[in-house]
Amino acid sequence: MAETDKELLKELYRRITEISLLHSCAAVLEWDERTYMPPGGGNHRAEQKALLSGMVHEKFTAPQIGDLLKKAEDSLSGAAADSPDRVNIRELRRQYDKLVKVPKSLVEELEKTTTLAEQAWVEARRKSDTAPFLPWLEKIINLKRRYAEAIGYKTEPYDALLDDYEPGETAANLKQVLENLRLPLVEMIRAIADSDRKPKSEILQRNFPLDKQEIIGRLAASAIGFDMDSGRLDVTTHPFCIGIGPGDTRITTRYNANHFGQAFFGILHETGHALYDQGLDKSYFGLPMGESVSLGIHESQSRLWENVVGRSLAFWQYFYPWVQKLFYDSLKDVSLEEFYFAINEVRPSFIRVEADEATYNLHILVRFEIEHAIFSGDLKTADIPAVWNDKFKKYLGVEPPDDRQGCLQDVHWGAGLIGYFPTYTLGNLYSAQFFAAAKKELTDLEKQFASGQFSDLLNWLREKIHRHGQRYRAAELVVKVTGEPLNSRYLLEYLRGKYAPLYGI
Ligand code: CO
Repeated sequence: MAETDKELLKELYRRITEISLLHSCAAVLEWDERTYMPPGGGNHRAEQKALLSGMVHEKFTAPQIGDLLKKAEDSLSGAAADSPDRVNIRELRRQYDKLVKVPKSLVEELEKTTTLAEQAWVEARRKSDTAPFLPWLEKIINLKRRYAEAIGYKTEPYDALLDDYEPGETAANLKQVLENLRLPLVEMIRAIADSDRKPKSEILQRNFPLDKQEIIGRLAASAIGFDMDSGRLDVTTHPFCIGIGPGDTRITTRYNANHFGQAFFGILHETGHALYDQGLDKSYFGLPMGESVSLGIHESQSRLWENVVGRSLAFWQYFYPWVQKLFYDSLKDVSLEEFYFAINEVRPSFIRVEADEATYNLHILVRFEIEHAIFSGDLKTADIPAVWNDKFKKYLGVEPPDDRQGCLQDVHWGAGLIGYFPTYTLGNLYSAQFFAAAKKELTDLEKQFASGQFSDLLNWLREKIHRHGQRYRAAELVVKVTGEPLNSRYLLEYLRGKYAPLYGI
């Protein structure tokens, strides 16, 4: 590369890194808002965040960025497609095109509409009445259609929405992947429901003092590799993980004194996200090579640690004696096997965020089928409640008693997040496939877990996934890591492998 080209790339990276620093300032404000900010600070915080996002937008859409990108593309045309510079430029081009293709008026209208729609949703959910919300959803759908037309898509407009969360993913592919899950899952859940074996779920609802829950939560997060010197654990209402920047990744949880699992598995989940962030290559901070691939891949890391590892028998062979000692009054009469069964109970329910590993993906399937049909014009918003309940009955065998526990339970649609739900199931699918590959390469993983050793698995994930940043798109990454494209077989085998012995199915 010529000297002038190197200078040019340096200048582009300098500008992009500056934008990323502004983003990370906004992340600190966001974390503070969701943890410690007093309620009175809300309006001022909104102004601070609006100022920063305005600055980010202005800097990123500056004509110089377009010039620099174009020149960088020309000078790099001979470099390997997966070389760091080519990857950075490819992904920056993708982001830049989206920003400049969408008219500012549309961005503002979406922002305004979703703010009001969320308020209408809160009201609708409170009254369990879809009427005040559906006109807003209609508006959002229309704006999102304009958005999809503005940025363009592969086959159908819904692809453009997916691309915001899972770059490169398409509705056609997703439909196939989810459809392959549907029947086997419905059958598995039915067989489980018919089984005489039931866990003693009350075990988990005994008294679990909060201070002790925090102790065991921190212990588990550290044991699987969360670096507490480069992170924090705090309390919040809606748990999340936020990467502020190199050396600073924060997780949050909420405790319930009468439920063991909520905080514990919540912490493992957020730690899984955090391990990905802590594993990104710091030297690429601010550039695509230093960022995560997609929401689905991010979720694969959280699900892997929360469920595949955290709800395994081997994990509890190590942790249960500690937990039993810590909560002796509540668990003295509970065996490891009873505890393990209780944390792996399968029971169809109405609320997605409380769903077990088997039924969870059917919750997502219902949402995907509905939002895809609405967006394609095959379903009217007025028909959502009835279709929702029908699908629930068909797939999960239960029917929500009201819309509050049905189609009004999630904030996503009101917040304009259409095409987002599928990333949750993609995360489950990726996690099972990644773990199957890890198990093949690292032969005695279960033995390691049973003795509290998790570093081999973490290092494997770092090496195969984290350190690559956005070098590969999700679909390509799966092939690189596991040797084949995404296949729902792995999740189904994993679930069967767990539930067959537990439920005798
Ligand atoms: Co998550």
